[in-house]
Amino acid sequence: MTAPTPAPTPAPVTVRVPAKVNVQLAVGAARPDGFHDLANVFLAVGLYDQVTATPADALRITAEGHDVDQIPLDRTNLAARAAELLAARHGIEPNVHLHITKDIPVAGGMAGGSADAAGALLACDALWGTGAPRSELLALCAELGSDVPFSLVGGAALGRGRGELLTPLPVGGTFHWVFAVADGGLSTPAVYREFDRLTADTDVPAPEPSPALLAALETGDPTALAASLTNDLQPAALSLRPSLSAALATGTAAGALAALVSGSGPTTAFLVEDPGSARQVADALQASGTCRTVRTATGPAPGATTL
Ligand code: C5P
Repeated sequence: MTAPTPAPTPAPVTVRVPAKVNVQLAVGAARPDGFHDLANVFLAVGLYDQVTATPADALRITAEGHDVDQIPLDRTNLAARAAELLAARHGIEPNVHLHITKDIPVAGGMAGGSADAAGALLACDALWGTGAPRSELLALCAELGSDVPFSLVGGAALGRGRGELLTPLPVGGTFHWVFAVADGGLSTPAVYREFDRLTADTDVPAPEPSPALLAALETGDPTALAASLTNDLQPAALSLRPSLSAALATGTAAGALAALVSGSGPTTAFLVEDPGSARQVADALQASGTCRTVRTATGPAPGATTL
């Protein structure tokens, strides 16, 4: 009698996931659950983290790349929580080694942690053969965080609710961006708390997407997009980190079409006309000492992709 052939060890799975910039972030009043209703227009940009899932005896996380000393390598990492959530739903053990290669600024308002969670979910689904349909993956993403579904989907999308209810948006061209990465991160809950403090005496309107902004995306016109970029969290981010205004001013003086804080910050984003202008703005920011490092990227970029 021949011995049964052991099941083959599944090959590692690597998923690449983009960063995002919010081209409109309209924030409503705090809801009873503490979250804020949003009209959140996400644009994925071509800075990517990679997550590789390999079979292991237990859940383990390692990381390499930019600022990895600033991310937790235990079960508080959102990528670990993604693996645990998928495993729990399918009644299996979350035995996987997740290796994260970071290129997205950490705690920078560019959804780096959300990207890693979406990447881990897709990679584990393929590694474990759980075969979760897209709708289940999106629901799991929404449980993990408000920005995680967009990391899976990429492109451009309008996020309603707390940002997790997505409608894909048409984009008619490629937009060129420069990002100034600040020293240290900003905590998203702290920025929302500061928003609440700054708006305590005002009647915060219900957040609505800007028709002019959606039209600018659809036509691919950077000048029109520049005229309609808004971020309701920007005053709160600047209140917590006043030094960001120097980076905004530097990029604008160097020829950016528009400048704004990316999401909850502290990364600042500069929309530029073309690659030449991107180099000019990037050089000026780098030379100014107003930021730690400068990145350039274009959007839209595709969502989480298995390599
Ligand atoms: O959903 P996520 O875990 O990324 O949210 C982090 C924090 O950001 C929340 O705990 C909340 O304080 C704040 N937040 C919010 N309204 C949103 C999204 C996030 O107040 N729509």
